[in-house]
Amino acid sequence: MTTASAQTDALPAVTVIGLGEMGFALASAFLDGGHPTTVWNRTPEKADALVAKGAERAATVHEAVAASSLVVVSVKGNATAHELLKSSGEELSSRAVVNLTDGASAEVRAVADWAEGQGVPYLHGQIMTIAPGIGGAETVVFYGGSHAVYDRYQRTLQLIGGRGALVAADAGVPTLYGMAVHGTMWGALNGFLHAAALLSSEGIEVKRFLDDANPSVSALLASLPMIADEVDRGEYATEYGALQHHLPSVQDLVRESVARNIDAEFPGYTLGLVEGALEEGHANDSYSRLIEHFRQQ
Ligand SMILES: NC(=O)c1ccc[n+]([C@@H]2O[C@H](COP(=O)([O-])OP(=O)(O)OC[C@H]3O[C@@H](n4cnc5c(N)ncnc54)[C@H](OP(=O)(O)O)[C@@H]3O)[C@@H](O)[C@H]2O)c1
Repeated sequence: MTTASAQTDALPAVTVIGLGEMGFALASAFLDGGHPTTVWNRTPEKADALVAKGAERAATVHEAVAASSLVVVSVKGNATAHELLKSSGEELSSRAVVNLTDGASAEVRAVADWAEGQGVPYLHGQIMTIAPGIGGAETVVFYGGSHAVYDRYQRTLQLIGGRGALVAADAGVPTLYGMAVHGTMWGALNGFLHAAALLSSEGIEVKRFLDDANPSVSALLASLPMIADEVDRGEYATEYGALQHHLPSVQDLVRESVARNIDAEFPGYTLGLVEGALEEGHANDSYSRLIEHFRQQ
């Protein structure tokens, strides 16, 4: 007979190294999910609330690693993550490591390469939410690295975010995915906030605009797969609208911004990109042609 207790016992033990805002949320999710959970933090008191909920407090990183088959790391910077893992002792090679510490791809790969050299089964994960979002059904986490680790611990990793996915065998890729999402987001948000400044300078409620203009705004997101396809193929077809037709609209936006004393740097930057591509003879290419500008930087 399978009892609830037997099911709980079958859950793998998890160690969380680092109990900052994110590590604390991760450890809470594993605990709430019924995993035996061991925690270590440089400042030990940060574990108090977790220990009160049933977590084990490890006195050293070595002890923390020894306690569980799955070791999750969430600290400030991959240099720190690397130092902590290096200090953990030989047992690490018989553990699976999931490093959820953000960083640039070279920093992330340095830890992954070291782990590979030590024979440590290893995954890097890029969490696409803030700490309160941990455990959400729609929370996205991009993983890169060992397929075997991902398969073995997939159910446990679901406790971090319901939309986890292994995106590459290369541990450096998830961080690039994260940056690509954030870069797209900031570009869109800056454009939207500039537009909001324009609208509100006329006394128009921005929410009202969004309700009215929703089909146009949604069409923008819907166009991304076509742009992605053109970029991947290196063929800048004109289906999405030729660059020359963007020019008057961008010029209008810049003039309107200047006339209203609204910062025109953001549309001015776009104007420079469009003018540059037209000067290079790409008037009939689609907007995706501008990828060549970014590649030349
Ligand atoms: N917070 C979020 O919502 C969020 C969202 C997405 C991603 N992340 C990522 O999650 C990771 C952790 O972020 P966080 O927000 O939890 O950071 P945080 O609240 O600032 O905590 C930093 C953690 O790193 C530890 N640490 C720093 N230097 C250390 C060292 N030299 N030796 C040992 N431990 C050290 C700290 O230990 P002490 O407690 O002893 O200082 C603490 O546990 C980062 O990569 C961050 O980008 C966080």
